[in-house]
This record gives sequence, C-alpha cells and structure tokens, in this order.
Amino acid sequence: MANQLLKGKKGIIFGALDERSIAWKTALAAVAEGAEIVLTNAPIALRMGKINELAKQCNAQVIAADATSMADMENLMAKSMEALGGKLDFILHSIGMSPNVRKSIEYTNTNYDNFLKTIDISALSLHRVCQTAMKADAMNEWGSIVGLSYIAAQRTFPGYNDMADAKAMLESIARSFGYQYGFAKKVRVNTISQSPTVTTAGSGVSGFDVFYHYAEKMSPLGNASAEDCANYCCMLFSDYTRMVTMQNLFHDGGFSYTGVSGMLIEEMQKNNA
Ligand SMILES: NC(=O)c1ccc[n+]([C@@H]2O[C@H](COP(=O)([O-])OP(=O)(O)OC[C@H]3O[C@@H](n4cnc5c(N)ncnc54)[C@H](O)[C@@H]3O)[C@@H](O)[C@H]2O)c1
Repeated sequence: MANQLLKGKKGIIFGALDERSIAWKTALAAVAEGAEIVLTNAPIALRMGKINELAKQCNAQVIAADATSMADMENLMAKSMEALGGKLDFILHSIGMSPNVRKSIEYTNTNYDNFLKTIDISALSLHRVCQTAMKADAMNEWGSIVGLSYIAAQRTFPGYNDMADAKAMLESIARSFGYQYGFAKKVRVNTISQSPTVTTAGSGVSGFDVFYHYAEKMSPLGNASAEDCANYCCMLFSDYTRMVTMQNLFHDGGFSYTGVSGMLIEEMQKNNA
C-alpha cells in the first residue's frame, strides 16, 4: 500500500510499547511511506517494552521521555531535531494511562491523585508536546500533530472510567492548541477517534472484550484495526490533509453514526427467544 506519501518528512512517534501498539504500526507505516522518525516512550516502557526491536526495523533513534515532564519534552524536541537533521513535519501522540483503571477503582469511588495522573499523562501531555514543539520552533509549516482518542469522550462507556474525561480534554486541547498553532505557524493539530483495538492500553479497560464485540457488530465496516489506524495517521501527516486542523476524526468503521445494527437486533432476538 506504501506510496512514498511521507517522502522527505521527519517525525516523532510516541507510545510504541510492543507490536500491538497503534504507535508501533504507525512507525512501520510512516517509514514504509518514506519518513524518517525518532521513537520515544517513558523510561519504564523502554525498559519493559520491545522498542529497540522496532528501532532496528525503522532505522530510528530512541529517545526516552516521560510525557509528564517538561524537561524531558524539551530535551526530546532538541535531540530529535539533532537526530533527524532538521525540523519536524509530524508528531504522533499515542499515550494513555489511568491508574484508576489499572487498579480497578470504580469511577464513582475515584481516587483523585490517580485521576490527576490520568489527566496529566493522557491529556495534558498533548498540550506539553505542542507547547515544547512551538517554543523550540521544532515544526515545519504545515506540520501535523495527531493524538489518539476514543468515542467515550462523547458517549458514556462505563468501563472506560476517568479515561473518558481525559479523552474529552485531549480533544479539546487539539482544538484550542490547533487554533493557536495554526495562526502562529500553520501547524495542524487533530485527534483520531479509533475503534476499540486489542493493545495493552485497550485490553486494560474493564469489559473490553464485550465492547470490542459490540462495536464490531455495530459498525457497518467492522472495527478499524491498528494497521488501518496507522494508515490514517500517515494520511493526516501527509500534505493531502494540509487544510485539516482542530478536528476529532472518527476512524471507527461507521460506529459513531450508527444507532443500532441489524446484526445486534438479530443477536438480541436470538438471546430473547
Ligand atoms: N486500544 C484501544 O482500544 C484504543 C482505542 C482508541 C484510542 N486509543 C488510544 O490510542 C493510544 C495508544 O494506545 P494503544 O492502544 O496503542 O496502547 P499501548 O498500551 O500500546 O500504548 C500506550 C502508550 O502510552 C505510553 N505511556 C504511558 N504513560 C506514559 C508517559 N508518562 N510518558 C510517555 N508515554 C507514556 C505507554 O508506554 C504506551 O507505549 C492511547 O492514547 C489510547 O488511549 C486506544
């Protein structure tokens, strides 16, 4: 499928933990499309994950950075431009983590220290990425920053817990920073709202199997895979979407605009028979 869509472009990919990660697939897809990349993840993820395997395949440098640390983000911007020999054309923010979800603490019984960490890691980090990139003048004009979201930002999926609030904020930051960055430097900021996908972060959400199955049956095209999402990210990094900014773009096989599907009705009728 590769068409050298990103030939000559340089970017940073956050969040490749293992081969199931959306960021992992996006790194491979971006390189296949001709991009040069830097890979980054939190120091602990670098120790536990397999990012060096991916780095070899992508001929990419790995730079550790905790997305909640301003100093790490500043260092990452400077080192990435050094490694790539110039300014950036795209950044993928593929970061999410909720200590409340991890510890199975219910939404109505939330721990607020955990809640603040969820917001800091999963939403404010996009602001931090945009702010440090802007201050370092790290992005070329018409560059593209993409974050990954989920439809729980608009509709309630109870197992998604405080991540729903983080995603609502993430999408809002994409709009607010997209406005600022567009006027200041013609840089685009968007989020992709992806189907449920089997990854470490995805499978950690309670009831994931059930809503993966439900979304598959509700979506006219079925659930979008991580590979499909990677291709959509590349499209958003490319010049074909140069006038798209401040958007939350559903990439979900039609799930978001389907009220109910024939398949689900049939399933419920069978269960009630
Ligand atoms: N899997 C799904 O069902 C699904 C659906 C919609 C959106 N998303 C979003 O896609 C993105 C990628 O998730 P994924 O599903 O590929 O899972 P994943 O677990 O592979 O990726 C999440 C990444 O976030 C990184 N991370 C956590 N804390 C960090 C920190 N402090 N600093 C830097 N990085 C940190 C992890 O190390 C990991 O690499 C997330 O924003 C997630 O919410 C996932």
